[in-house]
Amino acid sequence: MSDFTNQVAFVTGAGSGIGRATALAFAKQSARVVVAEINEVNGQETVRQIQQVGAEALFVRCDVADPAQIESAIRQTIKTFDRLDIAVNNAGIGGKYGRITEQTPEDFGQVMAVNVGGVFYGMQAQIRQMLFQQAVDKEKADNPMAGGKIVNVSSIAGVRGMPMGAPYSAAKHAVIGLTKTAALEYVRQNIRINAVCPVYTHSTMVDELISTAPGMEERMRRMIPMGRFGQPEEIAQTILWLCSAENTFCTGQAIQLDGGMTAG
Ligand SMILES: NC(=O)c1ccc[n+]([C@@H]2O[C@H](COP(=O)([O-])OP(=O)(O)OC[C@H]3O[C@@H](n4cnc5c(N)ncnc54)[C@H](O)[C@@H]3O)[C@@H](O)[C@H]2O)c1
Repeated sequence: MSDFTNQVAFVTGAGSGIGRATALAFAKQSARVVVAEINEVNGQETVRQIQQVGAEALFVRCDVADPAQIESAIRQTIKTFDRLDIAVNNAGIGGKYGRITEQTPEDFGQVMAVNVGGVFYGMQAQIRQMLFQQAVDKEKADNPMAGGKIVNVSSIAGVRGMPMGAPYSAAKHAVIGLTKTAALEYVRQNIRINAVCPVYTHSTMVDELISTAPGMEERMRRMIPMGRFGQPEEIAQTILWLCSAENTFCTGQAIQLDGGMTAG
């Protein structure tokens, strides 16, 4: 696995689940990590775990649905670590479990604001900073291996319909559209932008879904050919590879991490 020494990784929603596993995985490979999270207690706990493995971390309280807060989080990143190399737009919410006719405008708006707005505003602030760094560091600008890397966390619900979760599925489809478009817009500036699409992965979000009905966990498990949920660390490893020096040619992709679900 690549070494991320001297690189700064900014991870949203890093206080739990996939975000925390990703932040820790970067830290174990010597990155300096920014934990951008709305939940201060959980975010600070991730910082503590990162420091325990001997890496540097910064907590920034940030609601990704608010463009001003994301911009401020990137400013704090630069103030502390002086640069931004990697961004993982992971923060997300599941939204209400129910059919389209049962979803209110507020249910829809909240999921779109966090899951789509967070990725859109996140990329705006991150790409601006990455372009600025290239402008002041000409040597890097000419090196196709040295541009910034961004990974957006979509979902299998971003490539398939998800009955009882229309706002979530719509939002995760939108994340893939944003990823592909941004990848094309900045490909010549050597910024590589990809998405990951996990299937059910052990986390608070999945625990909430499981609790909506008896037998739900077994029904969800049966949908996955491998017969098990993903582990947050398995998603993190793919995110790290996408951001690593080994990824020289992959951009604009939505990588499905689904235990075989979409193969059938
Ligand atoms: N767990 C799964 O099965 C699964 C599957 C596919 C995709 N995903 C996606 O993975 C990402 C991470 O989810 P998870 O499963 O680790 O869930 P999780 O609930 O454990 O973690 C989500 C984190 O995001 C934070 N967050 C929520 N709203 C925020 C906001 N407005 N600003 C900043 N932070 C905010 C939460 O506080 C939490 O720490 C989400 O985008 C989710 O949609 C998860």
